Amino acid sequence: MSKKFNKFAFSGLIKFFLLLFLICNLAACGEPTTTVLSLAPTNPATTVSGEPTAPPATTLAPATPIALPRPTSAPTIAVPTATSLPAITPAPSGTLAPSVAPTVPATTTQLDFSGDLAMSHVTQLASVIGPRVAGTEAERKAGDYIENHFRQLGLTVSRPAFQVSTSLDKGSQLSFKNSSKQTVEIKGNAFNMSGNGKVNAPLVFANYGRKTDIPVGGLQGRIALVERGEIPFEDKVSNVMQAGAVGIVVYNNLADQPLKGTLGTQATIPALGITKADGAKLRDELLVQTTYPLNLEVNITNQSIDMTNVVGVRPASGVATDSPILILGGHYDSVPDSPGANDNASGTATVMELARVLKDRYPQYELRFIAFAGEEIGLTGSANYVKTLTASEKNRLKAMINIDMITVGDTLLLGGDTSLVRLAQTAALDLGAGNVQVMPAAALGGSDNYSFQQVSIPTLFFNRENDPNYHRFSDSVDKVKPERLALVGRSVMKVIDVLTKS
Ligand code: BES
Ligand code: ZN
Repeated sequence: MSKKFNKFAFSGLIKFFLLLFLICNLAACGEPTTTVLSLAPTNPATTVSGEPTAPPATTLAPATPIALPRPTSAPTIAVPTATSLPAITPAPSGTLAPSVAPTVPATTTQLDFSGDLAMSHVTQLASVIGPRVAGTEAERKAGDYIENHFRQLGLTVSRPAFQVSTSLDKGSQLSFKNSSKQTVEIKGNAFNMSGNGKVNAPLVFANYGRKTDIPVGGLQGRIALVERGEIPFEDKVSNVMQAGAVGIVVYNNLADQPLKGTLGTQATIPALGITKADGAKLRDELLVQTTYPLNLEVNITNQSIDMTNVVGVRPASGVATDSPILILGGHYDSVPDSPGANDNASGTATVMELARVLKDRYPQYELRFIAFAGEEIGLTGSANYVKTLTASEKNRLKAMINIDMITVGDTLLLGGDTSLVRLAQTAALDLGAGNVQVMPAAALGGSDNYSFQQVSIPTLFFNRENDPNYHRFSDSVDKVKPERLALVGRSVMKVIDVLTKS
């Protein structure tokens, strides 16, 4: 009975909509909406992806959606825009990570690198997810988001895990006696990779902890008080250590935020981060007492944290096992309290968008798209990945292209293997990059290309100079320019184009 009814109702419905369609056309109801496109046979990829097209939720202006090309032949029947029709809900994809918003339409047929699509990845990583500190839930979520994107593209995805030892703070603080002989206690956060233990020594102000900020006479046997900013934490620590300091206290330059920093290298002196307000207390007291003894205690134990790189492989076609390999990579973690938009959602997003545009090209090559974890705590993701490469893989690896901090600063910097740098320079200038300079070899050690250089793999590093927001709270999505993501993306494509022909 129900079958009969359905049949009847169905043919009735068809007639109704045909009528509606005719009336609509006669009455010029308006253009069919772009929903038609998702059903157009010329664009099958969009129908199978099942990816919702809604942009990720964000407080910032969403990236401009790309205009999909209009079909040249009229679709058989325009899907009526009548509101009475049930909405077509895409089938849920099994690969969507539950904890993160869906990615942008990875399966759009646009073949050129899209700055807007890359920008939507930046927004997701740096604004929706936010700071992605190594070993945290946020880093894992970012990894899920990238993994999901790679899967949607049909890449072979893996999340090779590794562990790194970091410090767990069991209660670190300082205390001093003020001019009225009252004891003032201040709780703080030990820097990751700080030295451990207690010191009692006179406190001296050393501005930002730059070499030029060290007071005449040095800091021998003193505890240095410095402000956050201007240079990385590890540089502050190493500068005051070199000047003889036995401890360092860094206060935040941002109000109402604790300071939980990470040092790139292990320090031998206790290093404590405190709030801006507590820093003001210590400085005010220095105005009264010139110097005074401070008790500084850092109490940490080392613990192991877990991270995963995200690797998306597009194998070479055929059965050959000796195909040449190209790696395109960038780190996806950030430092604490920084959204890490330029450093390095910009590079991660560019790798993600390159994966989309390159996945069907250069079939004789194996293409590996890698988002590295834990770069900010010492290039740990890339170092671990390199360790897993076999001798045969190293031989087959023609280039590792690293993308890190590419949208802030007027000069595009290129570093690494001389011939790759030359190719990239030509490509970028052709694309109207304007200022392009070769990076000094000394600057190559600060990012993941370094891990590959160490084992003699030719590398190419894309970067920009002078980001005033480097490792700051202000490294936010609004500083990222989609056209600069596209400039690097397209430069990489040109480099690969030449490379794969030689
Ligand atoms: N993206 C930076 C490296 C960088 C900064 C390159 C500025 C070029 C210009 C990277 O994430 C970073 O901060 N690296 C650390 C070193 C790392 C070993 C912890 C650095 O450069 O201090
Ligand atoms: Zn970086």
